[in-house]
Amino acid sequence: QDVDDLIRRLPKTELHLHIEGTLEPEMMFALAQRNGISLPYASVEALRAAYDFSNLQSFLDLYYAGAGVLQTRQDFYELTRAYLQRAHADNVVHVEIFFDPQTHTARGIPFATVLDGIRDALDEAGCTWGMSSRLILSFLRHLSEDEGFATLAEALPHLDRIDGFGLDSSELGHPPSKFAMLFARCHELGKPCVAHAGEEGPPEYVWEALELLKVCRIDHGVRSLEDPALVKRLAEGAVPLTVCPLSNVRLKVVDDLARHNLRQLLQAGLKAMVNSDDPAYFGGYLNANLLACRQSLDLSADEVVTLVNNSFEASWLPDVDKQRWL
Ligand code: ADE
Ligand code: ZN
Repeated sequence: QDVDDLIRRLPKTELHLHIEGTLEPEMMFALAQRNGISLPYASVEALRAAYDFSNLQSFLDLYYAGAGVLQTRQDFYELTRAYLQRAHADNVVHVEIFFDPQTHTARGIPFATVLDGIRDALDEAGCTWGMSSRLILSFLRHLSEDEGFATLAEALPHLDRIDGFGLDSSELGHPPSKFAMLFARCHELGKPCVAHAGEEGPPEYVWEALELLKVCRIDHGVRSLEDPALVKRLAEGAVPLTVCPLSNVRLKVVDDLARHNLRQLLQAGLKAMVNSDDPAYFGGYLNANLLACRQSLDLSADEVVTLVNNSFEASWLPDVDKQRWL
């Protein structure tokens, strides 16, 4: 299939990826053994069988528990290195990845341990493959804004190694407005901001992310089509939507990939693209997401190129570097 070859061959970028969501069951078991932690699953197969989610929260419960095996700088380095190897194999040339420091500092893991391990692998990928990267500190929205401020205080000595800020975790009941002061502070620090919105939450949360958090991208945003005024705002502002199709299927945001609104988002003039979110939990990395969409939605070569170009345009690469890939 020509379009499938095109998907595999094209240089690509990944803009919506949680590094904790790349923890494959095999590595979870290996790290559990190395760190003397017992997992409530008998085998890798039993763990994988538990990846049968009914919504975002049922996934998050497992995802936060799984991250408990990550303890040392070496663990975070190996996790990130394994992801970057898979991304490189998919011809991904630039990544902008999230990390959730609160998931780890709440367990007594120092902020610097997490950051140093991830950065070791990102720097190595830059040297080895010329892969460029950005690292986004994502705040957990089920926690309080004060806890977010405490995490930001821990990040301050390391701001030269943090490229932007994000907002993730349980969306319903935790609107962006809860974090308006925190994001105002992030902007004062001169960093770009993004937020998950319109995944399970209503279009109103997308509005809040834009107007109150002043984000430069919306992570997911698939529910935006429910509000024509919002579609107009997103189109006029050329606001990128980092859509994650396999995630949406596995978390029951959509009931079937064939009924995903990816094409409708593009046809509405929105800067949508495809990303992998938490690939170890959702059944595939970037190429797998694009190939699944090609198959279920019958994407054309032009649509694939548009999705990939939207992704480069939405990245935080300087314009000269974007021109290399567009
Ligand atoms: N954290 C990791 N993956 C997430 C998702 N898809 N939505 C919200 N928070 C997340
Ligand atoms: Zn996400």
